[in-house]
Amino acid sequence: MRVLITGGAGYIGSHTLIELLAVGCEVLVLDDLSNSSTVALNQVKLIAERDFEFIKGDTRDANLLVEIFSRFKPEIVLHLAGFKSVAESVDNPLSYYGNNVSGSVQLLEVMSKHKCTKIVFSSSATVYGAAKYLPYDEDHPTNPINPYGRTKIMIESIISDWCKANVNNSAIALRYFNPVGAHSSSLIGENPCGTPNNLMPLIVQVAAGEKDKLKVFGKNYNTRDGTGARDYIHVLDLASAHLSAIGYLKNNVGFSVFNVGTGRAITILELIEVFELVSGTKIEYEFVAERHGDLAIAVSDPKKAEKFLRWKAKYTVEDMCRDTWNWQINKPKIIKGLVSTAP
Ligand code: WQD
Repeated sequence: MRVLITGGAGYIGSHTLIELLAVGCEVLVLDDLSNSSTVALNQVKLIAERDFEFIKGDTRDANLLVEIFSRFKPEIVLHLAGFKSVAESVDNPLSYYGNNVSGSVQLLEVMSKHKCTKIVFSSSATVYGAAKYLPYDEDHPTNPINPYGRTKIMIESIISDWCKANVNNSAIALRYFNPVGAHSSSLIGENPCGTPNNLMPLIVQVAAGEKDKLKVFGKNYNTRDGTGARDYIHVLDLASAHLSAIGYLKNNVGFSVFNVGTGRAITILELIEVFELVSGTKIEYEFVAERHGDLAIAVSDPKKAEKFLRWKAKYTVEDMCRDTWNWQINKPKIIKGLVSTAP
């Protein structure tokens, strides 16, 4: 199967790319490298021992998309390209609407013109906003509280309408919860450009001595220990969910939404404890004020994906922490290009 993956050089994209290559897909990666690098793509070739085409570019570039669809003729698109920082989206909303929403519309227009009728979209649990009930199931009201989340729900609606307009079109939106971890080979992993906002990369910075201590945002939430609780999911589980989504689209039309999470929430202090145990490091931290817009708990009900995608998360929190730490230890060699072959 010929697959176009946008954002394929990114954290989720590169791990998903390995899965696509492993099952024999012919893949073209489109990525503007705004939050990724070709180092990850080179590592994917080492891990997968398969080649693929890479084009640096933006989904708003109509001419580039026409060239790709005319020549490569993708049968399905995995659309992972998009800006994804909540904080950045608040400061610079138009860049998020431009890149995420306009880019998706442009992609769908060229897909339609070239009769590419299948797309899997990288959405986010952020679309739910404040919880009316927990765990979040796919019927939970969507009320995102930041521009990043609003771009995701807008794109879901656009794709839904695209499916309604043509009975041959089929699409899935995967609502990711909190992706963490790295490939078990330690040859690729999260490598955020600039200062990370997410918890796990910040824990890693403290463990690696790059940061004195972690700021824990709030300690009076209604959770087991008062700190925020999240549904962390291993990036390899996330990657396999995309393969399950492709399988589902082979036999189903219309638009479907699936949560991609473990169904288990753990608190910040619990995650720190596991990370310390697995890495043998000490994570110093201090309690500070709650972060504006944060939820106490965000946890998925993954039953729909288990039933219809026949997908279920299998990695544990220990796996997530171990793979994250092993990648951190191995990353410098890779980034400096000292690792030339897979172990
Ligand atoms: C997790 C927990 C913080 C940093 C965001 C996006 C979501 C998804 C994942 C893309 C919270 C706490 C964090 C720190 C802390 N991204 N924390 N100190 O906010 O759940 O979700 O990233 O799809 O869309 O909204 O993730 O990692 O920022 O925070 O105490 O320095 O860690 O309060 O409880 P979040 P996060």
